Amino acid sequence: MTLLEISDLYAYHGQLAAISALDLTVEEGQTLAVIGANGAGKSTLLRTIAGVMPAGAGSIRFDGRDITRLPAHHRVAAGIALVPEGRRLFPSLSVEENLLVGGYRRRPGPWNVDRVMELFPWMAQRRRQSAAGLSGGEQQAVAIGRALISNPRLLLLDEVSLGLAPVVVRRIYQVLPEILRAGTTALLVEQDVAQALRVADHVHCLLEGRTVLRGRPGELAREQIERAYFGVDARRQPAAAPGGSGSADASDPAGAGDPAGASDPAGAGDESGAIPRQAGPNPAGSGASEPSASEPGPAGAGPAGKADEEVTG
Ligand SMILES: Nc1ncnc2c1ncn2[C@@H]1O[C@H](COP(=O)(O)OP(=O)(O)OP(=O)(O)O)[C@@H](O)[C@H]1O
Ligand SMILES: [Mg+2]
Repeated sequence: MTLLEISDLYAYHGQLAAISALDLTVEEGQTLAVIGANGAGKSTLLRTIAGVMPAGAGSIRFDGRDITRLPAHHRVAAGIALVPEGRRLFPSLSVEENLLVGGYRRRPGPWNVDRVMELFPWMAQRRRQSAAGLSGGEQQAVAIGRALISNPRLLLLDEVSLGLAPVVVRRIYQVLPEILRAGTTALLVEQDVAQALRVADHVHCLLEGRTVLRGRPGELAREQIERAYFGVDARRQPAAAPGGSGSADASDPAGAGDPAGASDPAGAGDESGAIPRQAGPNPAGSGASEPSASEPGPAGAGPAGKADEEVTG
C-alpha cells in the first residue's frame, strides 16, 4: 500500500525553488533514502512533508488523504513525525522530558518512554540528566526517541549520522530494523550514500531540488549515483558545482583525492566507499535556522557538536 504520495511538489525559500516538480512515493513498511549534495533540497522536502514548511504547489497525500494544507500538528496526529536536522532538543530539559515532548498529539501504539528506553538501554540510567550533557550520538538517540513516542506511521529522519563517528552511526542505524518491525515506515535523508544504500529499499537522489535518479540500491551503479549526486555538468566544470567552491569533491566524486574523508564527516574512516559530501562552510545546513512552533526544540541545542563520542550502553 502506498503510504506517502507526492505529486509535482514545489517548495520555496523566498524566490528560490528548493524543491521543483517532485514526484515521490513511499510504500508502507519500506525505507526510502533521499540523497543529494549540500543544498539539494533534502531538508526542505522533509520539512514540507512534516508541514513545518508550506508546499508552494503540488500535492502530498498520506494514507490516501490530501494533507498538503494540513497544519503540522495535525500531521503528527495523522502519523508523521520528523527527526529534524540538528536534533533540536531542549538542552536544559532532561532526557525523559525531551522524550515526553514528542508525546503531545500522540497516537496510540507501541512506543512510550519505557519502550524507547528499551531501544536505547543507556537512557534508563540517565533519564534525569539534562540533554545538554549528552554526546552527539546520545542526543540523536533522544531525538529519534522523541519522534517515536508520537507513534508515527511515517518517520522522517534528517541526517541522523551528521557529525557522528562511524561507530556511533552504526549504533544509531542498528535500531532501524526494530523501528520498522514495530510497523513504522521510514523516509530518511542521508548524506552518507553508502549508509543510505545499506538500509534503503529505494533511493531517491536530488540535485538542486529536482529528481535526478531513483531506483533500488541493487539496480543503481556507483557511477550512476556519483553522476546524479554531483550532476554531470559539475563533473565537467568543477568551478560551477552547486553549492561548491570548486572543491576537489566536485571533480573527484570517487574521493580518490580525499583519502582522509575530510569533506565527509560522517563517512570519515569508513571504507565502504561512501561518496563524499561536498565541502562547504556550514555542512550542518541552512535549513536548521528558523525555529518553528511545531518543531520541538531550539536550533543547535547545546553541545550537539560533540562529535565522535560514542553512545554508551
Ligand atoms: N531558511 C532558508 N532561507 C533561505 N534559503 C534556504 C533556507 N533553507 C534552505 N535554503 C536554501 O534552499 C536550498 C535547499 O536547502 P536544504 O536545506 O533543503 O538542502 P539540503 O539538501 O538539506 O542540504 P544539506 O545537505 O546542507 O542539509 C539551498 O539552496 C538552501 O540554501
Ligand atoms: Mg539538510
